[in-house]
Amino acid sequence: MHVSTQDLKQDHVTVRRIRDIAQRCSDRLYEGANIPLEDIDVISVVIEEFVDAFHHGKEEKAYFPSTEIKNDAYAEDVRKFKIEHEFGRRVAQMMRRHLKEWKSGVDGREPVARFLKTYAIYVTDHTGKEDRFFDMIEEMKSLSDKEDRQILEHYEMCKNDAGGSARIEELLRLIAWLEGRDWMK
Ligand SMILES: [Fe+2]
Ligand SMILES: [Fe+2]
Repeated sequence: MHVSTQDLKQDHVTVRRIRDIAQRCSDRLYEGANIPLEDIDVISVVIEEFVDAFHHGKEEKAYFPSTEIKNDAYAEDVRKFKIEHEFGRRVAQMMRRHLKEWKSGVDGREPVARFLKTYAIYVTDHTGKEDRFFDMIEEMKSLSDKEDRQILEHYEMCKNDAGGSARIEELLRLIAWLEGRDWMK
């Protein structure tokens, strides 16, 4: 498997950790648990920066442009993936909006729980479909070694757009921190 494809599949492992946090947080909110709103803020930060800016950035700016040109079926898959990215961004935006209201005194427990749950379902569906797409790209040997290297160079630019290596490491630490919170147990 090419490194450029493997890299995105590896990101999906992290994205699914964020999904598990969102799902757990949603379940606990529905149960009426007290979760610090600052913790939900951190969930929104890792979604915005790791999933949207960093991971979707690599897909949209580097991997998809190199694969969608191969054939019409790939182009159609990529078109759907990009629409799904937009859907995910909207769900995250709605969650943030209700969280902000909640912080200003309007009870946002139900909508925040609902959008976190929707986000978790979205991640499962979307990353599952993309993983099958990535496997197909590899099985069909659709990428050359040269294209793989070019995509990897693009990833470096995407990483800088998302705040650089130090910021990505910080986001990974935040994900681990969330996993260790009391309400996650
Ligand atoms: Fe994606
Ligand atoms: Fe993805």
